[in-house]
Amino acid sequence: MNKPYQQTHLCWAVVPAAGVGKRMQADRPKQYLPLAGKTVIEHTLIRLLESGAFQKVAVAISVEDPYWPELEVSKHPNVITAPGGKERADSVLSALKSLQGLAAEDDWVLVHDAARPCLTSTDIHLQIDTLKNDAVGGILALSSHDTLKHVDGDTITATIDRKHIWRALTPQMFKYGMLRDALQQTEGNPAVTDEASALELLGYKPKIVEGRPDNIKITRPEDLALAQFYMEQQS
Ligand code: CTP
Ligand code: MG
Repeated sequence: MNKPYQQTHLCWAVVPAAGVGKRMQADRPKQYLPLAGKTVIEHTLIRLLESGAFQKVAVAISVEDPYWPELEVSKHPNVITAPGGKERADSVLSALKSLQGLAAEDDWVLVHDAARPCLTSTDIHLQIDTLKNDAVGGILALSSHDTLKHVDGDTITATIDRKHIWRALTPQMFKYGMLRDALQQTEGNPAVTDEASALELLGYKPKIVEGRPDNIKITRPEDLALAQFYMEQQS
């Protein structure tokens, strides 16, 4: 008799956290800005750790980062620190390599931006439950409520059918070996702006799982207040 899939394939988390947060225009990388009593990255990591879904959380940190060693969570027994890279994809690949020898080729990896501190346990478990028997994996995504326009300069050239357009969020959940190989094979390709795009370039067909709209990415200064609001609503 076949064993249920989830018993044989473990889940690992990878958190790229080596960006500089240029668009945030703050005095430090945005993952270290204060939000509801902690830094942004502490919220993100504590939510991943407390979900109970992961064996380890591998975090990619810039080698010159003075803030990370100051955080208690950096010493958590289930947190592994890996060196960050030039682009997000390089940081993710580095964190994946730090799981070599721990993660099996067919284990699942959920890659989640450090800058998305409002992720809920509900979404993590929904994604894993939905995709655990899939051959490739997939991403949390949001449908668009607005009517979408294709534009050339300042002129509308077409109205795009909304039902085919989704916004890519994280976590992005793929097989450990498949994701590592895909990121290696597409290294340096500017079209690879998330994990799914690396797999798409190699001909795979990742799925989408509808995520919650409060899973925002902190990108610009006004996003911090919005994240604070969502956290208050969640608690
Ligand atoms: N990231 C990373 N390594 C990089 C670039 C980005 O690990 N070389 C991480 C960021 O720390 C963030 C996530 O990838 O958690 C999403 O990237 P983004 O929101 O673009 O963050 P930044 O690159 O830091 O911000 P910006 O683009 O405004 O500079
Ligand atoms: Mg960036």
